[in-house]
Amino acid sequence: MKIAIGSDHGGYELKEYLKKYLARKRHQTTDFGTFNHDSVDYPDIAKPVGRSVAKKDYHFGILICGTGIGICIAANKVPGIRAAVCHNVYTSQMAREHNDANVLCLGGRVVTKKMALNILKIFLKTKFAGGRHLRRVRKIGR
Ligand code: RB5
Repeated sequence: MKIAIGSDHGGYELKEYLKKYLARKRHQTTDFGTFNHDSVDYPDIAKPVGRSVAKKDYHFGILICGTGIGICIAANKVPGIRAAVCHNVYTSQMAREHNDANVLCLGGRVVTKKMALNILKIFLKTKFAGGRHLRRVRKIGR
């Protein structure tokens, strides 16, 4: 799969960890930064990742900040993006199955690396259920 990944400083360590997993699984991953622990503004990362996923350059985006919240709010301002903060496997599965989320947001200060990996695995493998959920997603609009 083609995946766009990005984080602010609060998500930097988790981003580096998840990138290693994605590389092992031979996903084509593009890193939109940040590239060290220095403080950056999460919208500066969320917007380019969101735009590239909305353009369908990538199947999915992964965005990580301290809580996952700010970077998710910013990504959802990009037309065509349905970004979801997921704290566990259930919310990750539902974000794909019911909401057809195309960007997974994580909190680097909220979830453990192991939990984040489980959340990511479920997100990548779960298909959108369609049907009544498609009707609801369409009602959200772009
Ligand atoms: C940065 O300290 C922090 O505010 C950011 O990573 C994120 O948690 C915002 O929602």
